[in-house]
Amino acid sequence: MNREGYAYLFEGFEQINIQITDEDLKYHVTSYDTAPLLWISNNNSYTYKLFKSFMDDLDIMDEIKTLVDYDEQIRVYCGFFVVGKGMDRETWHKDYHDGANAYTLITPLFELDPSHGNLMYKDEASNIKLYEYKINEAIIFGDGFEHATQPYAKTDELRVMLSLTFGTDKIEYWDILKETIGDQSNYMILPCGHEKGTCECAG
Ligand SMILES: [Fe+2]
Ligand SMILES: [Zn+2]
Repeated sequence: MNREGYAYLFEGFEQINIQITDEDLKYHVTSYDTAPLLWISNNNSYTYKLFKSFMDDLDIMDEIKTLVDYDEQIRVYCGFFVVGKGMDRETWHKDYHDGANAYTLITPLFELDPSHGNLMYKDEASNIKLYEYKINEAIIFGDGFEHATQPYAKTDELRVMLSLTFGTDKIEYWDILKETIGDQSNYMILPCGHEKGTCECAG
């Protein structure tokens, strides 16, 4: 892939929405508004299964099951590479509305450069804290967890995180889930287990 041609994606001047295809691997690239952070998601079942296999290998589903209202299994909704080369603002947000019964996992794909931003979050008393990303360690958080990428100066060192969203297999929660994750990616597996846009389960 010609890296030069993608440099504009990191400029942060426009909202990004493009597809990348490399043989069987299909990805979708999006940004939230003009924040210079790219969310590169699985865009077919082939890439979805690659991301899901990371999750299966972690063997944490039994623990997740103690936190989530589910029927038979924890569903992996979507996988992402979250790629940045600088962050000029604090984009505070929560990944899920209350009661969504879903979680986000984030772990660095490569060792972070010392210049890279970590994860800012608010504790129960709304104090701002910092979680430092470590290789071979993931953070998992659900509803109520307010967070932002710690701003950091523009750099040539790509900051690449691996992120997955997962949670309940009960379709009744899709109404809450879709409020925050419904448009995060083009391709997504719904709680019912079907690809978004291909079934009537959500009513
Ligand atoms: Fe987030
Ligand atoms: Zn369905």
